[in-house]
Amino acid sequence: MKQPRVVAMEEGAEPVSATKTSLSRAFPSRILVVCLLFLFLGIGLSIIGMYSVRFSMIPQIAAKASSTVQPWFEDTTNTLENFIRPPSNLMHNMNDTELLWRASFVPQIKEYPFKRVPKIAFMFLTKGPLPLAPLWDRFFKGHEELYSIYVHALPSYTGGYPPSSVFYGRQIPSQIVEWGKMSMCEAERRLLANALLDISNERFILLSESCIPLYNFSIIYHYISGSKHSFMGSVDEPGRYGQQRYNRHMRPEITLSQWRKGSQWFEVNRKLAIDIIKDTTYYHKFKRFCRSACYVDEHYFPTMLTIQSPHLLANRTLTWTDWSRGGAHPATFGNADITESFFKRILEGQSCLYNGQPSTICYLFARKFAPSALDPLLGLAHKGDFWSYSQS
Ligand SMILES: *[C@@H]1O[C@H](CO)[C@@H](O)[C@H](O)[C@H]1NC(C)=O
Ligand SMILES: *[C@@H]1O[C@H](CO)[C@@H](O)[C@H](O)[C@H]1NC(C)=O
Ligand SMILES: *[C@@H]1O[C@H](CO)[C@@H](O)[C@H](O)[C@H]1NC(C)=O
Repeated sequence: MKQPRVVAMEEGAEPVSATKTSLSRAFPSRILVVCLLFLFLGIGLSIIGMYSVRFSMIPQIAAKASSTVQPWFEDTTNTLENFIRPPSNLMHNMNDTELLWRASFVPQIKEYPFKRVPKIAFMFLTKGPLPLAPLWDRFFKGHEELYSIYVHALPSYTGGYPPSSVFYGRQIPSQIVEWGKMSMCEAERRLLANALLDISNERFILLSESCIPLYNFSIIYHYISGSKHSFMGSVDEPGRYGQQRYNRHMRPEITLSQWRKGSQWFEVNRKLAIDIIKDTTYYHKFKRFCRSACYVDEHYFPTMLTIQSPHLLANRTLTWTDWSRGGAHPATFGNADITESFFKRILEGQSCLYNGQPSTICYLFARKFAPSALDPLLGLAHKGDFWSYSQS
């Protein structure tokens, strides 16, 4: 069986090669012409093809794409990176209902699938400008990864800050605030809600335009971040300015023994910030029954958080205020007051509990400072330590 096949193959090999050589010898130029013809035909066809695709098909595809999905270069909304990155523009057109709802989102998995550096949100509740801004600029310099700033000014205030300032572009959509009224707490909730939109913000501190820092950024950051408690002033104060502001109509949600008073200038962690912005129960009680001689901003958050999370509160504020001069308003300090001995007086002899241990650092901020205090304050503020008096 093998034999005839081998023979057949050998037989067939001979005439093929003979034909091939005789053909190439006989018509070499004709073959070249045929090849070139095919080549030009191929090029011609592909050029026509490209043109017809360009002028007829692509517009169809593009039209179809724009009517159904976003163009590829804008469709980045579904990345984790996009979700983590804080909004680049603080201005938005959400109203308070929408904003509070949006800000109340909480991840249910406790571990973050990315490196999260906890930041402190510094929230400034002001009427207009921040006269002490240059001092804060110096305070924040070099710590960009660890803080974010939010400013709620009255809507009528149209001034701004130079691009070199830490306050540049940090104003949030605001509304009218009547001091001591519910709108004050609404502004504070608006600040918290805007700050909650940045997932890196872990601690939230409320300040005013007349506040100054008492230590450098590093000390303040570590003091706040390292605290097991949030610094909400909360005391059960008898008398006219405390218990007598309570209204029995607040029962049963709020009883007299639960009624608290504290400084408006608070610091809360992320959990408590969300508890504050999502509250409707206590909000409505205070809005209806804490009026005239009852100052909502001194009672609402201290009372509510003492009922809900007493174990998370330090029950003291971080902001030093001088009430020693008496009257309804605390002392304001100007140019002539700012000396090293003035700061020694504020800082020395303090004692309080920090994480359950005695501490001599109790206040991190102070108020109230007039615009005229700026120059002497800048004179005392040094790089590094920030304040010359805290070097000793
Ligand atoms: C915000 O807008 C929604 C939808 O239009 C509306 O239901 C809600 O009452 C508004 N909230 C405020 C505070 O205006
Ligand atoms: C703050 O006060 C509440 C009661 O009002 C108490 O339960 C809590 O332990 C206090 N916090 C500290 C740090 O002592
Ligand atoms: C902050 O102040 C403390 C104490 O005065 C000092 O030891 C520390 O170096 C300062 N931190 C920075 C970043 O300058």
